[in-house]
Amino acid sequence: MDYETVRSVDPEVADALDGELDRQQNTLSMIASENHVSEAVLEAQGSTLTNKYAEGYPGKRYYAGCENADTVEELAIERAKDLWGAEHVNVQPHSGTQANMGVYFAVLEPGDKILSLDLTHGGHLSHGHPANFAGKLYEVEQYEVDAETGRIDYDAVRERAEAFDPDIVVSGYSAYPREVKWDRIQEAADAVDAYHLADIAHITGLVAADVHASPVGIADFVTGSTHKTIRAGRGGIIMTGEEFADDVDSAVFPGGQGGPLMHNIAGKAVGFKEALQPEFAEYAEQVVANAKAIGERLQEHGFTLVSGGTDTHLVLVDLRDSHPDVSGGDAEAALEAADIVLNANTVPGETRSAFDPSGIRIGTPALTTRGFDEAAMETVADLIARVVDNVDDEAVLSEVSANVDRLTDEFPLYE
Ligand SMILES: Cc1ncc(COP(=O)(O)O)c(C=O)c1O
Repeated sequence: MDYETVRSVDPEVADALDGELDRQQNTLSMIASENHVSEAVLEAQGSTLTNKYAEGYPGKRYYAGCENADTVEELAIERAKDLWGAEHVNVQPHSGTQANMGVYFAVLEPGDKILSLDLTHGGHLSHGHPANFAGKLYEVEQYEVDAETGRIDYDAVRERAEAFDPDIVVSGYSAYPREVKWDRIQEAADAVDAYHLADIAHITGLVAADVHASPVGIADFVTGSTHKTIRAGRGGIIMTGEEFADDVDSAVFPGGQGGPLMHNIAGKAVGFKEALQPEFAEYAEQVVANAKAIGERLQEHGFTLVSGGTDTHLVLVDLRDSHPDVSGGDAEAALEAADIVLNANTVPGETRSAFDPSGIRIGTPALTTRGFDEAAMETVADLIARVVDNVDDEAVLSEVSANVDRLTDEFPLYE
């Protein structure tokens, strides 16, 4: 992979693109929301569809010349229906956040009420944080995970719903390592006659591969990002039943967006085709097996995992017991210096600031794409433990970085 044409026009950007390729090849990407898409997806996203205006939907566009845009969007929709079994799919949201916006705009009025999980307990900004449009436009009440177990307390969600009487209940999370019981959230929504939005941004791939239970057919709306575990072109997706199809489509365009990013939709179509192949189910199973392997090994090293383990693609480490003098930010910085890239994260019952919280979130989708198995993940856990035990020791960070080099050579990327 080279950027010679870009280089001939813009060497500064070409340097950054080369640098990013090199960074991804030579570091361990463990940010739970990231993945490495295939070269086919990259090529589709870099295609001439970036030039095309295609406001509207297949067969009903506001511009001429949309026949190829129609083909690509129809393929993305049909493949998404095959993957997740939804009646109606909209593949135009520019991101997972825009997908959530599309649902809110479809069924809520400004001032309506959202019940969602607190950000510091694993929720997402677009579920109603005051800094996000959702927090500004709607009245938001938040539930929390159980302080002891780190898991959703479904009875408490229902009680909170009965007290708050929301118009929509949001499930689906950014930093929740356990399987979500969608039917229990649905019961809470039904109890107060509210809509239910299940945001599977992180676990789209796990749900498509039946490695995590599906909310499709339970929740009124299912949203997601398309570049995380599903490993397709960057963007968002909304799935719903026929009864909400028109409201969702008009909430996305013209309600919240203009022209769809057709090159990204091409990337979604290609990635969805890849995810329909039998190998993808093996990949998704390995993602979870790898998260369990790294979690168990970190526990052997004395680390505390929120909820005591994982059923998904991530583990959330609470450093307070094992490393009271190391913040999430300290750990993130030291790990990055050793070429292991992940993010500091708030943990339930957070006692530090959101900018330098008490935990780290560790995800396995990207390394699993590179071919890492459980044994390799145990090695990675050993390296993480070594760094977090020695955040200020330059010699240790160099030694771990050399070990990372060996791993990235063994599991190459974009050769
Ligand atoms: C639960 C959840 N919803 C929505 C999003 C937003 O996705 P995007 O970055 O595609 O807007 C994220 C991002 O990580 C997420 O975790």
